[in-house]
Amino acid sequence: MKPAAKSLLVRGIGQLVTNLPELGSGILGVMQDVDLVIDEGHVAWIGPTGTAQAADAVLDAAGRCVIPGFVDSHTHLVFAGDRAAEFAARMAGERYAAGGIFATVAATRSAPESALLQRASKLAREAEAQGTTTLETKSGYGLTVLDESRSLEVAQEVVEEVTYLGAHVVAPEYCGREDDYVALVTGPMLDACAPRAKWCDVFCEQGAFSPDSTREILQAARARGLGLRVHANQLSHGEGVRLAVELGAASADHCTHLDSGDIEALAGSETVATLLPGAEFSTRSSYPDARRLLDSGVAVAIATDCNPGTSYTTSMPFVIALAVREMHMTPDEALFAATAGGARALRRDDLGGLYPGKRGDLVVLEAPTAAHIAYRPGVDLVATVVRAGSIIAPLG
Ligand code: NIG
Ligand code: FE
Repeated sequence: MKPAAKSLLVRGIGQLVTNLPELGSGILGVMQDVDLVIDEGHVAWIGPTGTAQAADAVLDAAGRCVIPGFVDSHTHLVFAGDRAAEFAARMAGERYAAGGIFATVAATRSAPESALLQRASKLAREAEAQGTTTLETKSGYGLTVLDESRSLEVAQEVVEEVTYLGAHVVAPEYCGREDDYVALVTGPMLDACAPRAKWCDVFCEQGAFSPDSTREILQAARARGLGLRVHANQLSHGEGVRLAVELGAASADHCTHLDSGDIEALAGSETVATLLPGAEFSTRSSYPDARRLLDSGVAVAIATDCNPGTSYTTSMPFVIALAVREMHMTPDEALFAATAGGARALRRDDLGGLYPGKRGDLVVLEAPTAAHIAYRPGVDLVATVVRAGSIIAPLG
């Protein structure tokens, strides 16, 4: 393998999205006609085109638009099996219920670890080819000590941000015994999984975990040093969002069914509202009220929720198009949420922007402006993807 160049000059950028308003126009801080240098993996310099010092390698943007790499802060990539028939049935009128998860649990438990790794890696490469430079992923389709811990082992090999989701649903063999399953999740399962994860997530929902169980699991995880995230208010209104805020979770994910108290709580907090419109698309349900969240000052991220049940897409450009068209976010707001928003939802200060100090994660778009991502839906506009100064896509 060719060693990564120490420094990379990205030359001839027509528009550079920095995500720092002080540097340019609008919330994206867009600069015109610049060169950018990445040194030792981090952005080191930005200046007018043609004025950069020599670097070890050069990437010619040829007047195109350059944006920060997408930060996909919510995925479920470790699974086996296929639920296309369930999707087709929904499109023919059936409703989504959380119970579909059991089909994936059965397939995941019986798959060899090598197959789980192969599938998760393939999905991660697919995401990278579409401009994603940071991925979070979760366990949650194993639901035994062994299956959750090997899911996390796979996740550690494939992504940067790993989340323990033993509390996705109550495991089938614990049916009707939520308390016993919570004891497993907070006991032996947490013992096995905490060393392999940075985060703990709980699906707080009717048919999954009650608010009391959610609190108990999150508190146990926090005591073991894990950061917190919550699948909250996805299918119905509940206490998930308030709990996320109260416990200082980094992110409340889904946020589809909110009342004004939830929005107020989020607005005054450090908890990001992560919207996952791929799930509403694939379950044909109403989208979250992104406008109300944004207009109330809530920090918003968008992510794919890539999973075999409710959102089988790795495409952040698709999610941006949905956010703009279906959730009434402006193209600028959607791109900010897909980059800086995701970084904040993962509490990663080093990601989500392009200015000195940030990691050199960027996408050269086959387009003159970033608005083209939503303006040209379904079209592959990703020309080159760079992570920490090295080209990761296209490869070869
Ligand atoms: O984020 N909400 C819970 N988990 C997934 C769905 C999982 C599945 O149906 O397999 C979600 O939508
Ligand atoms: Fe999810």
